[in-house]
Amino acid sequence: MSLAGVLTCSAEVETSDFDDIKLYTLRNKAGTTVKVTNYGATVTSMVTADRQGNMADIALGYNDVSGYMNAVDKPYLGAIVGRYGNRIAKGEFNIDGIDYKLATNNDANHLHGGVIGFDKVVWDAKVVGSNSVAFHYLAKDGEEGYPGNLDINVTYTLTEANELKIDYLATTDKKTPVNLTNHTYFNLKGEGEGSILDHQLMINAKGFTPVDSGLIPTGEITPVSGTPFDFTSAKAIGRDIGEKNQQLEYGLGYDHNWVLNKGEKDEQLTLAATLYEQSSGRFMEVFTEEPGIQFYCGNFLAGNLKGKSGKTYVHRGGLCLETQHYPDSPNQSTFPNTILNPGEKYKTTTVYKFSTK
Ligand code: GLA
Repeated sequence: MSLAGVLTCSAEVETSDFDDIKLYTLRNKAGTTVKVTNYGATVTSMVTADRQGNMADIALGYNDVSGYMNAVDKPYLGAIVGRYGNRIAKGEFNIDGIDYKLATNNDANHLHGGVIGFDKVVWDAKVVGSNSVAFHYLAKDGEEGYPGNLDINVTYTLTEANELKIDYLATTDKKTPVNLTNHTYFNLKGEGEGSILDHQLMINAKGFTPVDSGLIPTGEITPVSGTPFDFTSAKAIGRDIGEKNQQLEYGLGYDHNWVLNKGEKDEQLTLAATLYEQSSGRFMEVFTEEPGIQFYCGNFLAGNLKGKSGKTYVHRGGLCLETQHYPDSPNQSTFPNTILNPGEKYKTTTVYKFSTK
């Protein structure tokens, strides 16, 4: 089925050859459109204006559902990842004396929810009002090795303030780790328009969590100051990426979790990052209630993936800003807690705000 399509109102639905897979278009008065599908609760497109008012799609994606289903190299384009975004060492953790063993799909480790994570399942969907789509999925007790039935709602809202707001809500019937995020790859020049190394990135973080060669955090929090990981003032992503640095070697570039500066209350919506691309003037701000952000600069894009408009996604042709709890938290007692208890609500919001300069 084609995931391209012309729709007329704010929130509309396009059906596909696969009966239960649908594409929804959110549109605001500024002309920004965001398309989301219930396959993986995935953002397939984000069309925004440049400083001249020309529109371009700034999110990488495929143009049909089979692209998402058969993604051999598993880049997770635009998807919601979970039950636990990023890695859990050896796919193992212990809660209340019980050892759990998850599916391992990243060498010896568990990545982005396992073999069939939330990016590979069909969610229920409901249009809410004129500018929101709410996706729902019930992850079964034992799915990919996780304990507990996890009931998840992810709602995408496109506001008139030109923000894409993502609200996450989950409940469980057994203690379980939860860490949900969105894996959109941005290229503010437009998808398929070359590398992102010239984008100017600011990350509002004084520290990051260094990793071992398998990209599992060592448990430390290292100050970014004086390292290539210092994005406290906006700088080109490519500026320091070639420096000799063991962390950059392990990540094959940037693929790390930054520890966000937070205000007095940990779980408030604060500025996590800004991204600017000079030729288009596109500027994006990321706000989140989460304590961390995974900045991944598309190191595994190898130039063998053709995107939705037929253009090749080159090495580092898109970057992800994945708001999250820190990787491997279930095994790291000093990291913020990621275990959800029955009776509690996992509730968190992230906002991507688009403008130009
Ligand atoms: C995350 C990980 C990366 C990589 C991508 C998907 O951002 O941190 O190492 O697995 O997802 O390709």
